[in-house]
Amino acid sequence: MRLLITGGTGFVGRRLVERALQADHEVMVISRDPERARRVLPEAVRVADDAMDFVSAAPEAIVNLAGEPIADRRWSDSQKTRLVESRRHATRDIVALCEQLAAEDRAPRVLVSGSAMGFYGDQGDREVGEETPPHDEFAHRLCLAWEQEAQKAAAFGVRVAVLRIGLVLDAGGGTLAKLLPPFRLGLGGRLGDGRQYMPWIHREDLVAAIEFLLDGDGLEGAFNGSAPAPVTNAEFTRALGRHLHRPTRLCVPAPLLKLGLGEMSRLLLTGAKMKPVRLQEAGFTFRYPTLDDALAAIVSH
Ligand SMILES: NC(=O)c1ccc[n+]([C@@H]2O[C@H](COP(=O)([O-])OP(=O)(O)OC[C@H]3O[C@@H](n4cnc5c(N)ncnc54)[C@H](OP(=O)(O)O)[C@@H]3O)[C@@H](O)[C@H]2O)c1
Repeated sequence: MRLLITGGTGFVGRRLVERALQADHEVMVISRDPERARRVLPEAVRVADDAMDFVSAAPEAIVNLAGEPIADRRWSDSQKTRLVESRRHATRDIVALCEQLAAEDRAPRVLVSGSAMGFYGDQGDREVGEETPPHDEFAHRLCLAWEQEAQKAAAFGVRVAVLRIGLVLDAGGGTLAKLLPPFRLGLGGRLGDGRQYMPWIHREDLVAAIEFLLDGDGLEGAFNGSAPAPVTNAEFTRALGRHLHRPTRLCVPAPLLKLGLGEMSRLLLTGAKMKPVRLQEAGFTFRYPTLDDALAAIVSH
């Protein structure tokens, strides 16, 4: 299969690229910095900075993961604009490529496009499936804009699946790269009252879910991309401490996080008990269904 990936240099994208090459797919990546991308990606990957550079290659499938990192900077008005617009632009370029290819009768079969648990906003402790009405807040509007842009590819005969991704866990990046150093020093602790849900997914399962959606004829619309056993922040904190054999008695008070991070503190202090209802109904099975399974595999490495 000829597979085009945006965000292929990122934490998720790099693993997707590796597995796609192992499966003998032809892999293409759009990156803002092709030189850097060529340095970090395997040689077999074709890299360009413009979606239209791939018209002649006519990708059969597209995975869209590019976007400004959500938790790297405080959410000032300009940073919020960057978070939304980076995703809309990357997605719009992909849709324009689909339009061009459709005009030549070579439209891609499928687009799997990123979204996040933030689509649902703060949901307290109720179970959240794909049909649960979202809570209107910035994270919801960000994901909605991203999903709506991706859905436009359907007009060109492309099957569109959006994946509402939970916290991606693995060694070497993502959330755990930030959490492991303090936890290893025994400085880990719950955030606020710790009752907020943190849907999570092992990176291998996320990449497998992307592959499942690429292959699964008829799978379209929104899919929750997180393990079937979401945990609260307090449970996550205790589990990580247990796997590292470190105490986790500390607590970062909510007012301190709000003061330090402003609105971005909602990423840490609110959440959704998100369940992968549609993925499981479609027959997807998780290699790491529980947090203990995932942490045992990651931390023991
Ligand atoms: N990791 C998680 O826990 C998690 C959870 C929920 C949702 N997600 C979403 O899933 C996607 C993939 O996650 P990830 O962890 O692999 O992300 P990542 O490591 O931050 O990589 C995203 C890629 O997007 C590109 N990018 C970064 N800033 C950009 C900007 N301002 N404009 C356009 N492109 C930009 C970069 O590629 P180039 O530098 O090569 O252009 C980067 O490699 C992201 O969109 C993320 O929001 C991730």
